Amino acid sequence: MKSLEKAKIAIVGGTGFEKLFVNAKQIRLGTPYGIPPPLFIGEVDGRNVVFLPRHGPEHSVPPHKVNYRANIYALHKMGVERVIALNAVGAINMKFKPGDIVVPKDFVDFTKSRPTTFYDEAPVTHIDVSQPYCPEIRELLIANAEKTGVRLWADAVLVCTEGPRFETPAEIKMFRRLGFDIVGMTGAPEAVLARELEICYATLCFVSNMAAGMQERLTPSEVSKVSKQITPKIEQILIDTVNALPLERKGVCPCAHSLKNARF
Ligand code: HPA
Repeated sequence: MKSLEKAKIAIVGGTGFEKLFVNAKQIRLGTPYGIPPPLFIGEVDGRNVVFLPRHGPEHSVPPHKVNYRANIYALHKMGVERVIALNAVGAINMKFKPGDIVVPKDFVDFTKSRPTTFYDEAPVTHIDVSQPYCPEIRELLIANAEKTGVRLWADAVLVCTEGPRFETPAEIKMFRRLGFDIVGMTGAPEAVLARELEICYATLCFVSNMAAGMQERLTPSEVSKVSKQITPKIEQILIDTVNALPLERKGVCPCAHSLKNARF
């Protein structure tokens, strides 16, 4: 394997994607925010990539207990510059269906109890999130998803709820009226924390179910069933996107210099 310092791309996602990697090595890292789950470093089509299973390797950490700061800080410490996140989501928009892929362009944070920033102290830091996801990664995810022939939605808004329960039908009705398209429990504050450390970040979501009130009941087994069905396409999109990312960031996105002009 090439040197670890050169793993500038990370995939943050559900358990099980480590098998994408050739010669994966597991490493443990400490951070000022706590210890993240074991990270896997390996090669994806010849490029060094880090895989971080955000719920831990056995999927034992619920969404509201994921240590998002430790996870993102560990990637930063390793020199990661770009993150491709994976999220299972429910469809709020009636046009979306289980098995569809979504590359959201914006999000709303409806979480309640999570530390949301690295900047609790001076200097007071206000990060610009006018473009919440990295446009360069999004463009590649969209182009590569199109190639696989999946049903794809790119002009979508993700709402992140606290969980771990699913939403009520009234919450979903409210979210639909507010213009949100998909709902998940892990999209925030992960995206913001990455931007706070000048890491490019975009997310590849797959619809695992219609949201509460749009189908009879919701179960985690349904989420994992759809996840297994769509996994080969997601893997292909990930491989093609990792391959297509330019080696160096050229500052065409707002991510790499997000701290510039962000402080009083
Ligand atoms: N709600 C919240 N999170 C989810 C859902 C949902 O319907 N499906 C998959 N993750």
